[in-house]
Amino acid sequence: MGAARRVAIVGAGVMGAEIAQAVAAARMNVVLVDANAEALAHGRAHIEAIGARRVKRGRLSETEASAILGRVATGDGAAAFADCDVGIEAVTERLEVKHAVFAQLDAALPPGALLASNTSGLSITALAEGTGRPDRVLGLHFFNPASVMRLVEVIRGAHTSDAAVDEGLAFVEALGKTPVVVRECPVNRVLCRALSAAYREAEANGADRLAADAAVVAAGPAPMGAFALGDLIGLDTLGHIIRDLREAYGDRFDDAGTVDAEVAAGRLGAKSGGGFLPAGAGDAPEPVPDDAARAVAAAYYAGARDEAERCRDEGIAAEDDIATAMVLGCGWEAGPLQANPAA
Ligand code: CAA
Repeated sequence: MGAARRVAIVGAGVMGAEIAQAVAAARMNVVLVDANAEALAHGRAHIEAIGARRVKRGRLSETEASAILGRVATGDGAAAFADCDVGIEAVTERLEVKHAVFAQLDAALPPGALLASNTSGLSITALAEGTGRPDRVLGLHFFNPASVMRLVEVIRGAHTSDAAVDEGLAFVEALGKTPVVVRECPVNRVLCRALSAAYREAEANGADRLAADAAVVAAGPAPMGAFALGDLIGLDTLGHIIRDLREAYGDRFDDAGTVDAEVAAGRLGAKSGGGFLPAGAGDAPEPVPDDAARAVAAAYYAGARDEAERCRDEGIAAEDDIATAMVLGCGWEAGPLQANPAA
């Protein structure tokens, strides 16, 4: 496969729309597909909003913004996939849903096309085994906001061919992003461990969430606090990821039920107008962190450090690669084992 010419993206939620924007901004054509017409309209509006924001900030001309949008076609079914050379699923983080989407993509994409999942935790090997092209299946794990964050984890399953990995790397590079090849997602382990630790600590000590976020940023090296980040990721998505990690690695990924409580109340994060923090909370003056807020920040960085050590010691990723991944995928100023947070 040369440079991809047309990329199918299934799932027009925030992640799917952000990936579509990144692909179209790299001058490739996209077909964004979602069975839900409302989600599709939201996805397109999201891409338009990114363009409008960049035009307003003088980072993009109006012509470029409308060319990007013009490269994104939308569709509601498999007919749209026929001439795509990469298919990416970005649907909800549940194996049965992803299996169904993969079956649809596998049946409709040309035989040589790459079949990629944006999963952060589900098994690429298991997903591949439901398809007729397991050697062409891989993970392409983007980080939110995918239109901005430079890291993409290229996840190799047991059946992924070397050629498919090379094509995945070339595709990510053509997006202007930095690929790292992994068998598991160390970033999610480190980040979700930090988030779980922070949520648990705040639940126990009653810290004000905005103050806790301010304490995380003040201590560094993370660019935003645990509660704002959960809202950015989307609490329904984060709930699935934390649950999978808890099942795989145990109670150190216990968030004291905080994420599920927000989801149960219908607060899914920024995409639903509020989550841990009410909409617009970031515009209020930052509260001065008190002891409880600082304890949340300390828990956040201690969790990240411990999980990074485990990933390193288990051979999941080298210390430097974990640092690079946290810097490019999560905007940290340094890796969790290099940084010396002031919390
Ligand atoms: N959605 C889309 N784009 C956004 C955004 C959002 N919510 N917030 C900011 N941006 C864009 C801005 O438009 C701007 O784009 P341009 O450079 O093209 O103009 C860019 O991000 C920088 O924005 P700002 O200067 O306003 O803000 P900032 O410097 O505070 O950066 C941030 C904002 C990029 C979100 C930064 O705070 C950051 O890096 N946060 C950490 C994000 C993170 O950890 N992501 C990984 C989550 S884990 C994941 O996604 C994996 C998973 O499986 C769940």
